[in-house]
Amino acid sequence: MGGAGVQGTKTGHRLALVLVCLGCLSAPADAQPSAERAAAELMDAVMWNREPVGGPFALTDQNGARRTEADFRGRLMLVYFGFTHCADVCPTDLMQMALAVDRLGPAGEMVQPVFITVDPERDTPEHLKQYLPLFHRRFVGLSGDAAAVQAAARAYRAYHRKVERDDGSDYTVDHSAFIYLMGADGEYLGFFPPGTSAERLAEVIGPRLAADR
Ligand code: NI
Repeated sequence: MGGAGVQGTKTGHRLALVLVCLGCLSAPADAQPSAERAAAELMDAVMWNREPVGGPFALTDQNGARRTEADFRGRLMLVYFGFTHCADVCPTDLMQMALAVDRLGPAGEMVQPVFITVDPERDTPEHLKQYLPLFHRRFVGLSGDAAAVQAAARAYRAYHRKVERDDGSDYTVDHSAFIYLMGADGEYLGFFPPGTSAERLAEVIGPRLAADR
């Protein structure tokens, strides 16, 4: 799909929406230095289509099965990176993804919603198994060791950074919150910004499903 994103317009609005999700849980500003790429750089890479998005991953699903990107060929994938302790942005986006799948009716069976945690420490497969059915029975939740999660996030240019709270009692995770749309051959089709409605998701995905038939 040409252009920087699935929606193709309202780029300024999209940027604002993306920035809203950074610090989903109002994290303190001071964060540990990181060797990982900066948030702005990664978001630019996605928003302006500067770098390829997607690719191989090897993670564990909520049933303990090892899953790779190859398992999802033949269906469209809606991929979201987030974490279950996120209070606001992640649950909102996951709900819209779920509602979009339902809106598509029987054709929605050909869309696989995928949640990849950026907080594998807390989001174990067992935890994802409790959490994801709150949104949709067809969600696949993926976790793994830190290196495997990092590799998946790198492939999708997904920013994430653990941020300790001031008193050290807890932490949150800053992350970008694009909803990526991947094609039946695993190819990248584009992204939706956080806050995209189920209606809009279905409106863009529906014709793709019809074209594949
Ligand atoms: Ni979040």
